[in-house]
Formats: sequence, C-alpha cells, structure tokens
Amino acid sequence: MAPSLRPLARPRPPGMLLGALLLLPLLGRLPGVWCFSELVFIKEPQDITVTRKDPVVLDCQAHGEVPIKVTWLKNGAKVSENKRIQVLSNGSLYISEVEGKRGEQYDEGFYQCLAMNRHGAILSQKAHLTLSRAGWK
Ligand SMILES: *[C@@H]1O[C@H](CO)[C@@H](O)[C@H](O)[C@H]1NC(C)=O
Repeated sequence: MAPSLRPLARPRPPGMLLGALLLLPLLGRLPGVWCFSELVFIKEPQDITVTRKDPVVLDCQAHGEVPIKVTWLKNGAKVSENKRIQVLSNGSLYISEVEGKRGEQYDEGFYQCLAMNRHGAILSQKAHLTLSRAGWK
C-alpha cells in the first residue's frame, strides 16, 4: 500500500514571502523609517560632573554604513556649535570651558547624540552634565 502523501500543513502561499522579500530593502530607504539593524552605538555619552571652566568631551561613536553624520542634542534641542562648543570629527562633543552661569552659556543639562546614515537614524541615551558646586560660596 502506498503511504499517504498528504502534507501535514498547508504550504505557505509563495506570493506572500516573495512580497516581503521585495519590500524589505525598500523599507530601510524610506525617510522616517528607522532601521535599527543598520546603525548601532559603540560609544554613548555618559553622565559627567565637572567644575566650571573645565573642558568636557562627551563621546559618541556609531557603527554602520558610512557616511555617518553625528549631531548633538541638549535637552532635546540641537546643539549649536560656537567657539566653545564643537562636534569633533570622531563624533564626540567638545566643550572647551564649561559655563555654569545664567543665560545662554549654561551647559548643564541632558545631552544625546543622534547618528544618521542613509538607512536611518539612532538616538543615544541621555547623559547628564552636572556642574559641581564644590567650592562655590
Ligand atoms: C574623539 O577625539 C577626542 C579628542 O582627541 C577624544 O578625547 C575622544 O575620546 C575621541 N572619541 C572617541 C569616541 O574616541
């Protein structure tokens, strides 16, 4: 007697799988679609406590397809570079002299870096920059 050749499960409709495979490369290229597999952080900024006038480097290093553009956010808003604050070529944020005074030059806050390439963007953890009050009168 011939054994039954009936399949146990219905085969997957081949059209569906093909459709998904064709869509996959497209999805990563659509603006606004974040593809986390393409970019990862190797280094994220860490909380730091400094004294006024100290230099500070906050690190940010992402791995993925180049070119990767790194921008920095402070309390959610883009950090504008100036004489005192620069984004280094390796992605780190450099503040030559931390300011603790009132007004615009107040550097305390939460810093994050945003790394982007053509596949998408990733946002780092928040690093808190704190000014040490030690020695203040
Ligand atoms: C980037 O360069 C600065 C200055 O040379 C250095 O302090 C910092 O650690 C570097 N960042 C990384 C992620 O290597």
